[in-house]
Amino acid sequence: MDTKLKGQTAIVTGSSTGLGQACAIGLAKEGMNVVVNYHSSDEEAHATAEQIESLGGRAIVVQADVSKEEDVEKLFSECEKAFGHLDVLVANAGLQADAAFTEMTLEQWNKAMEVDLTGQFLCARHAARIFRKQGVHQHGRAAGKIICMSSVHDRIPWAGHVNYAAAKGGVKMMMESMAQELAADKIRVNSISPGAIKTDINKKAWGTPDALNKLLTLIPYGRIGEAEDIANLCVFLASDLSDYMTGTTTYIDGGMTLYPGFRHGG
Ligand code: NAI
Ligand code: BGC
Repeated sequence: MDTKLKGQTAIVTGSSTGLGQACAIGLAKEGMNVVVNYHSSDEEAHATAEQIESLGGRAIVVQADVSKEEDVEKLFSECEKAFGHLDVLVANAGLQADAAFTEMTLEQWNKAMEVDLTGQFLCARHAARIFRKQGVHQHGRAAGKIICMSSVHDRIPWAGHVNYAAAKGGVKMMMESMAQELAADKIRVNSISPGAIKTDINKKAWGTPDALNKLLTLIPYGRIGEAEDIANLCVFLASDLSDYMTGTTTYIDGGMTLYPGFRHGG
């Protein structure tokens, strides 16, 4: 299938590792220029860019903390300088700052909110301003596409992770409200909500055979997700193949949201 993404430009936040890295590489394989954003892992960011270049793509690396307005401005202006236009934002950067609810510090609460929710707001707002100014042009049917990396925990409550679940729940309503407001500008906004995907963020949940077996009881499809599963959906949402989709959340989770406990009861 021709995604017609060749020559388009994407910013992928937090793309030196994990899902962001896989999305950056997946988009580059379709011929996109990619801005690889990282927070602290300089080496991994450059390795990602090198991988993109070895696939024949163009990439630049930009350090920026997505929760800081001035850093986000720098991220978008470096993109403008290098590529002259922007077509896709993948607002992927995120973290967990876990604690039992009664032990959770204000710092842990704020950390999750600042990166997982405010970071997506700052990047999406900047992208929407650019898309509105650019309008629909030769690159495709939409003026621009925003993809928010949410989580099954925008829907599944998560004890011990109240800050993270609240931020991802916020992403869901932020994404839908942005989609409603920006549709007239031909800007599409959608979320990817992954289940358990094998990355650093959840190593504790798959790093030992015991942990993995426990995790698999929550996944009817019987395997943990791979970063490429998410990259494939990201490519689809970035392209005109999904042109009639806006304001949607796609759960990509091997069935984690299907109340797996009810397979054997109820
Ligand atoms: P990861 O830990 O490999 O990636 C997160 C990336 O975000 C890292 O590269 C990190 O440096 C970056 N980051 C953190 N704070 C940042 C900041 N202030 N500014 C810029 N970048 C920052 O983990 P993973 O799994 O790749 O996570 C990516 C996204 O996917 C996150 O939003 C996470 O919530 C989401 N997600 C992950 C799932 C999983 O099972 N792996 C499931 C559902 C959602
Ligand atoms: C979390 C992971 C977790 C997954 C499924 C994600 O949002 O970041 O740690 O494994 O949800 O519960």
